[in-house]
Amino acid sequence: MMAPSPSILPLELRDVSFEAGGKRLVKDFSCTFAGGKRSIVLGPNGAGKSLLLRLCHGLIRPSAGEVIWHGAGGGIDPASRQAMVFQRPVMLRRSVAANVDYALSLRGLDRSRRTALVDEALARAGLSRLAASPARVLSVGEQQKLALARVWALKPEVLFLDEPTASLDPSATHGVEEIIAAIHAAGTRIIMTTHDLGQARRLADEVLFLHRGRLLERATAEAFFAQPKNDLAQAFIRGELLWWRRGRDNLAARPGAPSEEGDPPCTVH
Ligand SMILES: Nc1ncnc2c1ncn2[C@@H]1O[C@H](COP(=O)(O)OP(=O)(O)O)[C@@H](O)[C@H]1O
Ligand SMILES: [Mg+2]
Repeated sequence: MMAPSPSILPLELRDVSFEAGGKRLVKDFSCTFAGGKRSIVLGPNGAGKSLLLRLCHGLIRPSAGEVIWHGAGGGIDPASRQAMVFQRPVMLRRSVAANVDYALSLRGLDRSRRTALVDEALARAGLSRLAASPARVLSVGEQQKLALARVWALKPEVLFLDEPTASLDPSATHGVEEIIAAIHAAGTRIIMTTHDLGQARRLADEVLFLHRGRLLERATAEAFFAQPKNDLAQAFIRGELLWWRRGRDNLAARPGAPSEEGDPPCTVH
């Protein structure tokens, strides 16, 4: 089931910051992800969850600090062993099966091996009956399942998921959460963002709470949901609105950086 050893983990972020438009949007983020768990990155809109995942996955580069895949020695390319699923899936104008097949062909698998992997991934995602349908006619929930089938076929060691159910209704959310749980049970490390407390409770082994670009707390799910230590995390799990604090801590350390006055409130959904 698992990708061949050795592992690309642990993944370490060392004093990672990310700046854009004169603002530090991710601030001095340091943490290590080892194997096994499902980590849920939780926080209100604008906390920096998507940026953090993009930094981990290598889609954007840190302005300062380092993202290090410690296990990736001996010629292993970490990019080939990790995958990411976004809030809104992007489908090719091809059949459902061809979407999965294409992802496998990009990894250099020959056709004879691809066919079995495509069938297996579609079966696991509950999409076998739609294999020949054009992907673009699927419902959003089915498309997200297809996005998961597509990465599952690649058998990544690490899967990043950025709010994968944010556009879905409860029934589709349930289906997607089941697939994520099955991918994890098959041996893939899950690192996923959500602003949805209920989802974090259902899926998390551990929680990383982000607010305004900072990691404010990291705890086991049990400890976090019993009582977070951080006061903003406490407010968040009570369902309170977290307002942007005024101040200069969001500004890049450079003269003439814009003021934060007038920043909108940061709402909890
Ligand atoms: N390329 C960018 N340029 C300027 N601001 C950005 C950029 N990307 C994200 N931001 C801002 O950074 C903050 C964090 O964004 P994001 O990581 O998408 O938050 P989240 O996923 O937690 O909702 C937001 O205020 C967003 O508007
Ligand atoms: Mg986001």
